[in-house]
Amino acid sequence: MPTRAFCLGLASSVLATCAGTSCSLRDARCRVEDGSEDVAALQLREDGGGLGSRRTHRDLAVVDDRGEMLLQFSSRSRSIPARYLGAVPSFGEKGNFITLLFIYSPALWAAPAIFCSGAGKAHRVQAKIFGGELGEEHGNTIVFQCDWPEADANRTSFDVFLEDGDGHELGRVTAAQNPSLLRHYGTVGCVRPLWNGDISAVAIAPQWLEFHALHGVEHFLVYTASDSDDVVLKMYEPFIKAGLVTRVHFNTVNTDLLKGSNTSHPAMQRHHVQTWAMHDCLYRMRSRAQWLLPSLDVDEYIRLGDSTGAYLRTAWDKIAADHVGSKSGMVRSIRLDRLNFPIEEKRDVSKLLIAAEHRYGETYVQPKYVMRPAFNQVLSVHCQKSWTKGTQEIQISPSEGFVAHYRVHAQREENGPHGQKPNVSDTTLLGQVPLLLAALDKRYGGRWPALAAEFQTGSSMLIGDL
Ligand SMILES: *[C@@H]1O[C@H](CO)[C@@H](O)[C@H](O)[C@H]1NC(C)=O
Ligand SMILES: *[C@@H]1O[C@H](CO)[C@@H](O)[C@H](O)[C@H]1NC(C)=O
Ligand SMILES: *[C@@H]1O[C@H](CO)[C@@H](O)[C@H](O)[C@H]1NC(C)=O
Repeated sequence: MPTRAFCLGLASSVLATCAGTSCSLRDARCRVEDGSEDVAALQLREDGGGLGSRRTHRDLAVVDDRGEMLLQFSSRSRSIPARYLGAVPSFGEKGNFITLLFIYSPALWAAPAIFCSGAGKAHRVQAKIFGGELGEEHGNTIVFQCDWPEADANRTSFDVFLEDGDGHELGRVTAAQNPSLLRHYGTVGCVRPLWNGDISAVAIAPQWLEFHALHGVEHFLVYTASDSDDVVLKMYEPFIKAGLVTRVHFNTVNTDLLKGSNTSHPAMQRHHVQTWAMHDCLYRMRSRAQWLLPSLDVDEYIRLGDSTGAYLRTAWDKIAADHVGSKSGMVRSIRLDRLNFPIEEKRDVSKLLIAAEHRYGETYVQPKYVMRPAFNQVLSVHCQKSWTKGTQEIQISPSEGFVAHYRVHAQREENGPHGQKPNVSDTTLLGQVPLLLAALDKRYGGRWPALAAEFQTGSSMLIGDL
């Protein structure tokens, strides 16, 4: 999705608090994920019916979209409207805190200090604020981080009370998690809410998940929203059963407010949902994933060398070491350029994207990135912004690695100078087509090609609120 490209390396000045004691949150349930399939399945409406039937046994959290908050500060007689998105608990070795996510506004960025506490002003602390450092043009999200006692690490629900500096109540939000569902991972992918637009995202997601799982992405945090087609759950079901996918659901009742400030275009609306999901994923994975793919789309495949084996699990540390040697531990993100492989809009969705053989010779302007969640506070679709002192971003060249973007052909004007042709024959992934097809067929119990068409068509039902 096109957004403003913005990728400068920022001189770091604020020291982020990343202390905390090591805290392992494993339990018996996690061991199921290592091999055999979990017996519990999704309970879709067609199986069970009734309220809550679209919950799954791997729901990490349901986040209620409560829309606009009016923050009424007592001392300065100021009221600041703030578009609240949600609250995310992060517990573990990279810090114990709850993050509140808001859509960026200059007024909120300039607001007086906000304090957070548990009930009865317990562990009251001033929130750290991130996201407006680069000014209005680049702001998309403001995050408030509230330190929280490690003793609460295993709770599933939190009431967070907000106050101004005088102790005047500004509001109260809740945060939810289910820590027993997660382990610790090398590389995790975040998948925003999906809709079937010109790329038939729901239909092509299985091949993307399967490919990245085959190549070392150990887990995926996927997002659904109230207006997601419930066929999405059927699509995710075998991945959920296998313990590869955990879901967060946004009860986006008030979708109007998620639209861009001056647009009713659905793409902008979904942009905000995507940005929300990226930040939610970042903070849920803070102490769980060493590396995160926060904004890769399901038509984008990371390519490194010959792209065989579990390269997506092991490559990042080596790339960091190759580029900056002994400082590799402080690499906060690795940027990859995109190379576009044009595909037809009206195509057979059971055909694999990796079977496309031709791409453009030149890179597309907006990169994607993989990053260490522990070192990042605020993200954009194409870039991250970090205020963690001493960290750095590196960019790899297309000969080392790139994002193969299987993009609908009609949009090729965005690919480069007028008249440019997809003039490079690139068959690197062709040999993997049979492997990936076999994996999909196994995943969907022999029903794969038929299901692709069903996912593309969708159903007439939305997931709705959970
Ligand atoms: C949370 O639960 C895990 C697993 O049951 C346990 O090992 C850990 O000590 C708990 N942490 C806290 C802070 O209660
Ligand atoms: C909304 O966009 C239109 C057209 O781009 C512009 O004329 C108008 O000033 C904008 N309104 C606001 C409130 O930004
Ligand atoms: C493909 O086209 C680009 C841009 O026109 C050009 O720079 C590149 O050299 C071409 N590559 C090949 C293999 O012809």
